[in-house]
Amino acid sequence: MEEMKKGLEGVVALDTKISYIDGIQGILKYRGIKIEDLADLSYDAVSYLLINGKIPGEAELSEYSRMLKENRRINGKQIEVLKEFEFGTEALDGLRTAISCTAHFDEENNHHTPDANKNKSIRLVAKFPTIVAALHRASFGEKPIEPMDNLSHGANFLYMLSGKIPTELEAEAMEKDLILSAEHELNPSTFALRIAASTLSDLYSAVICGLCTLKGPLHGGARKGVMDMLDEIGSIENVRDYTLGKLENKEKIMGFGHRVYKTLDPRARIYKDVARALAEENGDTYWFDMAEEIEHILYHEFIEIRGKPIYPNVDFYSAVVYKYLDIPAELATSIFAMGRVSGWIAHCMEQYSDNRVIRPRAHTV
Ligand code: ACO
Repeated sequence: MEEMKKGLEGVVALDTKISYIDGIQGILKYRGIKIEDLADLSYDAVSYLLINGKIPGEAELSEYSRMLKENRRINGKQIEVLKEFEFGTEALDGLRTAISCTAHFDEENNHHTPDANKNKSIRLVAKFPTIVAALHRASFGEKPIEPMDNLSHGANFLYMLSGKIPTELEAEAMEKDLILSAEHELNPSTFALRIAASTLSDLYSAVICGLCTLKGPLHGGARKGVMDMLDEIGSIENVRDYTLGKLENKEKIMGFGHRVYKTLDPRARIYKDVARALAEENGDTYWFDMAEEIEHILYHEFIEIRGKPIYPNVDFYSAVVYKYLDIPAELATSIFAMGRVSGWIAHCMEQYSDNRVIRPRAHTV
């Protein structure tokens, strides 16, 4: 048998047309297009690109957006069921249960044709934000807010969360957040989902598999970890002691390091610009300054200790963006999933279209 690679590090498991990462030069492309060139599009356009493999024309985009808007609403019974559970601070548990519940209300749940999968993919992308917002409001006894059809995917989510129409910059920030979170090759949740899809399990089941894997603090859960860390540090004066203390105790600092990127993750650079712009609009750079100080100290400390720097990953400045958007930390992983669902669906479709059951071997010791 081949040599075992712990964590499958460096192992190539499959071919994909969906995304490309160059971890040395810090390049990320969705369907051959650099992330920097996609970040200013709408989430609808990027979601279409990921799932259908091409940038939509004007008419295609307008029809796709119309279908997403038409499918935003969720079954009232579903919210009633979900209110019975107390998900506490683990919003992702609520989302996972809600997606399972959505599958039960979807007549095509166990239909496995390309058309049924296309219909389900629109329902999934469209309903994720409504579910996340409704569950959050239900957790403190508030009624869900109906989606507003003239708002973009991201802006409508912010509106359904708070009942306030976001500013132009806030709406843009939310759209960018969903775009930057939408896809990242064979990260742990996508790999888990492709394994489920490779057994020809249905689209909802595969997405739930992705959600369960995204939850972990070393993957999507790190975003909440960064928000909690910023709260714990509390002020810029405490940054040095806090970060050095963590390093001394050999504890991981959330939002830093990456298995693939050995330089700055290109998404982190875009998130940093968004966080700075929001800080300036808010007239309050408190969170941004604290984050920049953590980045600065870690960069230099790592060079000192290990002879090479460590860089922020996608979760670091996104957490700062959420602070300025007034998003509670417990929603951070669910919102990540709201963006990622398009990439997950694209990977499911790719797996179904040229399938072989994913079944590696273990080295028995
Ligand atoms: N803080 C402190 N030290 C770190 C960090 C960090 N964030 N990241 C890596 N290191 C250190 C490790 O302790 C390790 O040291 P050692 O060689 O003395 O054991 C060394 O750098 C190599 O790190 P690994 O954990 O082996 O790197 P790996 O490729 O396995 O892990 C990972 C990457 C899991 C992302 C890691 O950097 C980490 O745990 N970061 C914090 C959690 C996080 O932000 N996760 C989100 C990743 S992006 C995403 O999933 C969406």
